Amino acid sequence: MTILDGKGLAAKLKAQTREETARLPRRPGLAVILVGDDPASRVYVNGKKKDCEECGFYSEEYALPEATSQQELLELIRTLNDRDNIDGILVQMPLPRHLLPREVIQAISPEKDVDCFHPQNVGAMFTGSAGFLPCTPGGVMALLDEYGIDPAGKQAVVLGRSNIVGKPMAVLLLDRNATVTICHSKTPNLTEICRQADILVSAVGKTGLVTGDMVKEGAVVVDVAMNRDENGRLCGDVDFLAVSRKASYLTPVPGGVGPMTRAMLMRNTLFSAQRRQNFEKG
Ligand code: GUN
Repeated sequence: MTILDGKGLAAKLKAQTREETARLPRRPGLAVILVGDDPASRVYVNGKKKDCEECGFYSEEYALPEATSQQELLELIRTLNDRDNIDGILVQMPLPRHLLPREVIQAISPEKDVDCFHPQNVGAMFTGSAGFLPCTPGGVMALLDEYGIDPAGKQAVVLGRSNIVGKPMAVLLLDRNATVTICHSKTPNLTEICRQADILVSAVGKTGLVTGDMVKEGAVVVDVAMNRDENGRLCGDVDFLAVSRKASYLTPVPGGVGPMTRAMLMRNTLFSAQRRQNFEKG
């Protein structure tokens, strides 16, 4: 069994991003907005700031109080949409319950939507045009590519149907000619379906969901989840030890998909800066 080393590949991608950044007339700029004080979101936002420093980006952080109104948030986004030195705008999800994520996402200029959450970018991605890639699914594909794992002709099973991970993950695998099944909380015979998978991607957020008996001998298993176990330690959906006895490739948690998601955000921000600066140069 080979560990899919997301941490290592993410470091490589960030080093490459730094080199490409050095060739730009103006360095990429990322604005990160955090509303409220969710501790997990705070950790993610701190990570993004550190990534920006490593890549040589300019970054701004907006830590807004929980009581921020929809109007105030939309006004900040509009200001950032108009700023020349900001190439990417990221609003950390989930938002407090009184805010409407759909409206917030649609307020971000599609040109600066480095999360690839805006319907225009989602539509472009679903129809296969080049542009932003959603960070987590894009990171999974980069990891598969790095290890020479070609999804073509394979049975791929995706657990979870979120807009952020499950749905776009299925589309990217389909684009690479896998035969894709999406499973969710109402899927009967989950074990049977998972056992068919040559590539199994779990993005549910349920510790211990993927057990050894759900995995085919030699399968590639990718664990997207970031859960906490009963001791408060970070873990995924996959029973790592049991599955490591059957899988050919397996991602660890932490050190697998998480760092890849962050590296892809940096790639999207660089891409946006390159595109916007070429545009400015005419
Ligand atoms: N919350 C969890 N994952 C993400 C992500 O990729 N982007 C944003 N904006 N919020 C998140």
